[in-house]
Amino acid sequence: MADHRLGFESFEEEPSPTTLDVEGELPDWLTGTLLRNGPGLFDVGGEAVTHWFDGLALLRRFRFDDGIEYSSRFLRSEAYLAAARGELAFREFGTNPSRSLLDRVREITGETMTDNASVTVRHRDGEFRAVTETSRELAFDPEELTTLGERRDAIDATGTLAHDHYDPLQEERVGLGIDFGSRSGYLVYRDPDDGPTEEIARIGADEPAYMHSFALTDHYVVLTEHPFTVPPTRLLGDRPFIENFRWYPERETRFLVVDRRTGETVAAPSVPPFFTFHHVDAYERASQLVLDLVAFEDHSFVESLALANLRSRSPAIPGGELRRYRIDLDAETASDETLFSGPIEFPTIHYAEANTHPYRYCYGVGKEPGSFNDRLHKVDVEHATTETWDEEGLHPGEALFVPDPGGEEEDDGVLLSVALDVEEERSCVLVLDAAGFEEVARAYLPDALPFDFHGAFYPDGERPIPSMS
Ligand code: CO
Repeated sequence: MADHRLGFESFEEEPSPTTLDVEGELPDWLTGTLLRNGPGLFDVGGEAVTHWFDGLALLRRFRFDDGIEYSSRFLRSEAYLAAARGELAFREFGTNPSRSLLDRVREITGETMTDNASVTVRHRDGEFRAVTETSRELAFDPEELTTLGERRDAIDATGTLAHDHYDPLQEERVGLGIDFGSRSGYLVYRDPDDGPTEEIARIGADEPAYMHSFALTDHYVVLTEHPFTVPPTRLLGDRPFIENFRWYPERETRFLVVDRRTGETVAAPSVPPFFTFHHVDAYERASQLVLDLVAFEDHSFVESLALANLRSRSPAIPGGELRRYRIDLDAETASDETLFSGPIEFPTIHYAEANTHPYRYCYGVGKEPGSFNDRLHKVDVEHATTETWDEEGLHPGEALFVPDPGGEEEDDGVLLSVALDVEEERSCVLVLDAAGFEEVARAYLPDALPFDFHGAFYPDGERPIPSMS
């Protein structure tokens, strides 16, 4: 019998739209398109890329309308076109082609960073884009999944985070850039619905940290600066991007609380070191900020996502916990509380309603030690209780919450997850009722897809709602 390793095999096909057989009952209000992104091709020129993040982006489309139609297509990035010829064209997250020093200098300015936009999708300026952690975004057609061309952020930074925030009340997107150039540090920016992109704050850092997401509240942007950092000159060396970063266990993790209007850093409390990829939510409570995230002891989670480990029968992957920090803005202190000990990753919430506000439910992917993601969790953060959904042989990915437009409770809606069924040797779309946390429908794909990262559901005729930060 196959196992989770099937989800780390290269997928070479580009199936045209196929109507899937649906088992169970889809809610009749569920119409729209689920777009997901993640690596699809790992083997380039007869050799595997080193890190999970370096597989070439494969866009997946699930159209919900009285049934489910599925298609997938590789993003036609320069990185993909080179890979199709058997070449690695860029320095990737954890994989390196040999490069000249000049090329590496140009990378630091953002000029020659990779365009393998495999992390998630974003709706911006009226179009859909595939994004990663460089400033090279690729627009694509949401129906045909054809690549339309490159769009660059008008931001003076080496790269920008794939995870940003959209604030429907203030009608702006807030993003974070990291600069490894002569003005190294963090660049917080806004991209208002009705105006040009502008800088909110530039915070210098001699050794910028690797950051994958950040938190937003009504008045603040919160950066979590863990001690996984790099002196920018080290990036001129010949190692893959992330291998230049080092973890400093003797240093602390610092929260940089930045005023969204003035750009001032109003507090910078430090806590014992931890590592994070994903923030869950943050909100204000008088002079306190509540900040929830998935915390790891250290950076070893990044290393554990090397393809060689993931392609082993029993991969060793550290587990993260759902943790709450309470930041006192006056005292500049922070205390923590475990909401769920995990392991949990790919956290999602009812983003459209809950982001920047208090929330009750966090959904996430969990696992048994020594296995790969094999269950879904629903954490009630108000009561610190957790429900778990799993099925033997099933490896679900990120569960996106899609609200029922007629619903009243925070969990009135469904969770959509693409899972690998190792017994069937095929992937399936899972539809779980979020309130009851039980399956209501599933639909098998013709093939087994590689595991994906993130995505978003776009209801028909409405402003697209991101799935998470
Ligand atoms: Co992410």
